Amino acid sequence: IFLSPILISGDLKTFSNSKRLELDQSSFCSNFLFGAASSAYQYEGAHLGDGKGLNNWDVYTHKPGNIIDGSNGDIAADQYHQLSDYKVLDFASMKEEDIDLMEGMGLSSYRFSISWARILPKGGFEEVNFAGIAYYNRLIDALLLKGIQPFVTITHFDNPQELDDRYDGWLSSESQKDYAYFADLCFKSFGDRVKYWVTFNEPNLHATYGYRSGKIPPARCSRTFGNCTRGNSEKEPFLAAHNMILSHAAAVDIYRTIYQKEQKGSIGIVLQATWFEPISNSTADRLAAERAQSFTMNWFLDPIIHGKYPAEMETILGTILPKFSSKDKTTLNKALDFIGINHYTGYYVQDCRFSACEPGPGITRTEGYYQTSSQKNGVPMGEIAALEMNVYPEGMEKMVIYVKERYNNTPMFITENGYGESTNLNCKKEECLYDFKRMEYMHSYLDSLLRAVRKGADVRGYFAWSLLDNFEWLKGYTIGFGLHHVDYATLKRAPKLSASWYKKFIAKHKTNT
Ligand code: NOJ
Repeated sequence: IFLSPILISGDLKTFSNSKRLELDQSSFCSNFLFGAASSAYQYEGAHLGDGKGLNNWDVYTHKPGNIIDGSNGDIAADQYHQLSDYKVLDFASMKEEDIDLMEGMGLSSYRFSISWARILPKGGFEEVNFAGIAYYNRLIDALLLKGIQPFVTITHFDNPQELDDRYDGWLSSESQKDYAYFADLCFKSFGDRVKYWVTFNEPNLHATYGYRSGKIPPARCSRTFGNCTRGNSEKEPFLAAHNMILSHAAAVDIYRTIYQKEQKGSIGIVLQATWFEPISNSTADRLAAERAQSFTMNWFLDPIIHGKYPAEMETILGTILPKFSSKDKTTLNKALDFIGINHYTGYYVQDCRFSACEPGPGITRTEGYYQTSSQKNGVPMGEIAALEMNVYPEGMEKMVIYVKERYNNTPMFITENGYGESTNLNCKKEECLYDFKRMEYMHSYLDSLLRAVRKGADVRGYFAWSLLDNFEWLKGYTIGFGLHHVDYATLKRAPKLSASWYKKFIAKHKTNT
């Protein structure tokens, strides 16, 4: 598709007030990973293909009213069928279009997740589905053949339905054993080639939306927070989170004890990392922003790195917060090699303990008594992208510096960053591929990231969300984040302007290092 060079270098309004940064020797390190990210349920399709079991999203999306456009991930971007011909021995006849797209852009890494029910259809210690293992082997091998590093998330929201039926996913401590078994199988099967492992994607969001507001499976909540008939929003998010934290620690322990020395990879966790900006300089608002951070990102990172929940959580929640035993604390001690940051947006935070504001409903922790907003004195924080995300590039630098300082400059990857907008399902003309705003968004956020790197933050990679338009959970196919448009009728992929821009950005970086 023809993309005009004038449009690429044209004088566009930028999202950031700061001057554009030049790439030079002091830019990202030479082995910095430039990648794109994806996840199994959002991309693969083949929901019952070759022995895969049902997962929580297969079941949830099929219940009327749960997904805004009534859609599901049965086909999604059909990535499974792009590569599933693992039985064909003639490599030349296999389709690898998505990997060709990555190669064309010069990506050094691809982040994808393993569908748990594809390799363990019932989730636990039962039979392994070898067709599923073969699919991921093909994907990993095909990536490596093109020099693209697989960056593998062990689980990205899609629990086998069997486990949700048995104990609502993460509510039972039994889930730790199931997860450890699954993670072990992944290391054993793929670890000879995978150098980057992520245990969980955004467990903080999973705990909140799955067990507080009840918006995603297992859709548990109580009336005070959502509209569910079962669940306990006051307690369950913290129990689910506790089990996910200990599952993470168990997987890291297995990796370090059995595999890491030989396989020479690294392992981390990915958190949803929103920037919380105090709405004023008052101590109350600054503390409220700190509580917001504690109840979201630090909720997971503090235990994994420092062995205990944030002090704010302990004070506010008291006995609701589960306790770590001394054995847990030993396993938790510095239980990661890197922190994965999914950063898209920021919000202003106002304290509600001493002022007249109302703590936000549902996902805003009323325990922390704060309100988030997109405006300060009537001035918006930035343009508002899909999913009510404020475009606030400065937040990237602030977030990364915050993590650097709180966690002793642990290596970081920006595992997701991207711009969502309404999908043009009827994209027949090339104009709908001119996604200037996404290009501008990425440029501004990468500039901001570079500022943090120049201040000494140990950031080792950046992944655009997302390689392709895909199934955006509760919003179905109505929102796209892709660098490539997907025509869901034909499954044809077409590069958007942002894909060409990212390719140039990566190439420029490579010639400068
Ligand atoms: C983060 C999640 O990991 C991903 O699955 C989702 O599609 C993006 N945010 C955009 O909402």
